[in-house]
Amino acid sequence: MRSLAALTLLTPFAAAIWPLPSSYTSGDTVLWIDGGVQISYNAANNVGSIPVANALKEYAPVDPQLTTNPQSYPHSYWNKNRNSTAGHRPSQQIIQYAIQRTYDTILKKNFVPWKFHERNEDFEPPTEGKIYISHISLQQNAADPDNILTPRAGDVDESYSLTLTEDGEATIEAETSIGLVRGLTTFTQLFYKHSAGGAYTPFAPVEIEDEPKFPHRGLNMDTARNYFSVSDIKRTIDAMAYNKFNRLHWHITDAQSWPLEIPALPELAAKGAYRRDLTYTPGDFEEIQYFAAIQGVEVIVEIDMPGHTSSIWFSQPELIAAFNAQPDWNTYCAEPPCGSLKLNSTAVYDFLGTMWDDLLPRVRSSYFHTGGDEVNINTYLLDDTVRSNDTAVLQPLMQRFIDFNHDRVREAGLTPVVWEEMLLTWNLTLGDDVVIQTWQSDEAVAEVVAAGHKALVGNYNYWYLDCGKGQWIDFAPGFASQKYFPYNDYCSPRKNWRLMYSYDPLHGIPANSSHLVLGGECHIWAEQTDPINFDDMVWPRACAAAEVLWSGAKDENGQNRSQIEASPRLSEMRERLVARGVRAEPIQMPFCIMNGTQCSLAT
Ligand SMILES: *[C@@H]1O[C@H](CO)[C@@H](O)[C@H](O)[C@H]1NC(C)=O
Ligand SMILES: *[C@@H]1O[C@H](CO)[C@@H](O)[C@H](O)[C@H]1NC(C)=O
Ligand SMILES: *[C@@H]1O[C@H](CO)[C@@H](O)[C@H](O)[C@H]1NC(C)=O
Ligand SMILES: *[C@@H]1O[C@H](CO)[C@@H](O)[C@H](O)[C@H]1NC(C)=O
Ligand SMILES: *[C@@H]1O[C@H](CO)[C@@H](O)[C@H](O)[C@H]1NC(C)=O
Ligand SMILES: *[C@@H]1O[C@H](CO)[C@@H](O)[C@H](O)[C@H]1NC(C)=O
Ligand SMILES: *[C@@H]1O[C@H](CO)[C@@H](O)[C@H](O)[C@H]1NC(C)=O
Repeated sequence: MRSLAALTLLTPFAAAIWPLPSSYTSGDTVLWIDGGVQISYNAANNVGSIPVANALKEYAPVDPQLTTNPQSYPHSYWNKNRNSTAGHRPSQQIIQYAIQRTYDTILKKNFVPWKFHERNEDFEPPTEGKIYISHISLQQNAADPDNILTPRAGDVDESYSLTLTEDGEATIEAETSIGLVRGLTTFTQLFYKHSAGGAYTPFAPVEIEDEPKFPHRGLNMDTARNYFSVSDIKRTIDAMAYNKFNRLHWHITDAQSWPLEIPALPELAAKGAYRRDLTYTPGDFEEIQYFAAIQGVEVIVEIDMPGHTSSIWFSQPELIAAFNAQPDWNTYCAEPPCGSLKLNSTAVYDFLGTMWDDLLPRVRSSYFHTGGDEVNINTYLLDDTVRSNDTAVLQPLMQRFIDFNHDRVREAGLTPVVWEEMLLTWNLTLGDDVVIQTWQSDEAVAEVVAAGHKALVGNYNYWYLDCGKGQWIDFAPGFASQKYFPYNDYCSPRKNWRLMYSYDPLHGIPANSSHLVLGGECHIWAEQTDPINFDDMVWPRACAAAEVLWSGAKDENGQNRSQIEASPRLSEMRERLVARGVRAEPIQMPFCIMNGTQCSLAT
């Protein structure tokens, strides 16, 4: 039998928590955990208090429907007031689901960390004389804000502290239920599966203090170029929450398909989806927003307009200009099929009014994204309500279009989000409330905040996960083929996690404007990604963005974070994701991680 001292010598690493906490100390005492652990939840003023109990047995699963048949969901998770859920207090639902996830992750979806030890090393602790964690105390020090499920950036305090004593007492303290969720997520990352069965941590005692750097930490998922099922989206939300992401930007419609059912406009999805059954019903829409919200992930829905709307043509051709202009489509749009909502059409405004009346009350968020990227002015040469590509003619029409939509969004109690072009290319006058999502450059971020607007970052040279697969367009032999040979795509090469990790959202931003950078998003456009390759396109590279957004791009000494420090931790995060059913790709060979940092280069 091996002594703890020997174990220490052979354990050159601390728990590989991802994203990295603000401060963290650990020891080398082994503690075991099983389903007998008591979990208590005590909140300030007893709001949401759950009595001390065997929480794992009593509260897991929270709601059998969450884990069994998604089709049978009642559509009653939310009250009419978008702040609250039906039935229970949201705080209780949040905590109960988090406890269930903690149990499931530690005891059922864990992994044996052989890859992180030397070849043939006997690294596992002895299975005799086990000391078990007896109790996890969740302490919430303040009542949750009313909008805990639908916060604006900064409304919810996500900080937490975590202690685990050598004699098996765990305490997680936070101001909000979501802070406790983040703490429980970290807690699960202290544990491994033992090959003889059971789960243990070799790291007690543990002390962690943690809080996010940025309030907006997102992934943008495109469900229009390719369709993703509700379960694909839920798997992604779980993986996001596990990385402490808190915003799912749902780019739900685009030129190629309109999968979102709008009951007041039934033909939209019936004709505009790729196939009649490849849609999101109002029930799916509600369920996805709920499933995300109780994990502290707010869904921000985007209906991209006025470009990227060609799929409306399939039900209402009279609303769309330049539909599928061919063969010179690249004069009129960035990718086929071309098309834009007409810019000076009463019928378009009637359509939008009907859509907003139906959709906006069903949005469970504080935000709504109205798109606005890549509008090609030549489209309006073919728009019978305008017939011009003169920006002096188009700009006032675009202003009217945005004002109409943003007024409706605000009337529904939501804050508008737009792509950077609306401000930086079209020079529109946008309300102070509007959040501007940048994607083209770091200069764009600087310009947005210089104009006093709140900004989201996500420079495509760093944070576009779709890049590097090469072209999906086919080129005729001869000139076109030669011009594009060897068929790189617009943002080749692929963005390696190290490049993503090197991206600083505050690069070039004056200190007095940095508060306007709310955070950012990485993006998975789906031209060449469908459910078969989605997980390995996104994971674990998106984890690099998650850590930059949670922990910041600089370490505690103000230096750029080290790839050499991060890499083995990210490899471990990848193993966790795989254990949880996410098909994340490896970032190195086991050889590299089996003995420290053998695949690094100093000069
Ligand atoms: C939701 O809660 C926020 C914060 O308490 C409040 O300002 C807002 O009015 C509420 N919204 C609704 C629709 O009740
Ligand atoms: C917009 O439409 C109105 C009504 O049809 C028309 O009078 C006006 O000239 C149009 N504006 C432009 C810029 O084409
Ligand atoms: C505007 O349209 C004219 C053709 O009517 C074309 O020659 C010109 O290049 C277009 N302008 C831009 C900026 O594309
Ligand atoms: C916006 O302003 C820039 C810089 O003044 C100008 O080049 C551009 O043409 C303007 N765009 C529109 C649509 O008016
Ligand atoms: C740190 O990262 C920034 C980009 O965010 C880069 O410009 C700079 O050169 C890096 N510094 C070092 C010392 O590598
Ligand atoms: C930030 O500081 C710069 C330079 O001192 C100044 O020009 C600018 O107006 C300041 N911006 C804000 C938002 O205070
Ligand atoms: C493991 O790393 C240590 C420290 O760098 C080195 O001394 C040792 O030779 C390595 N072992 C193997 C098997 O590569």
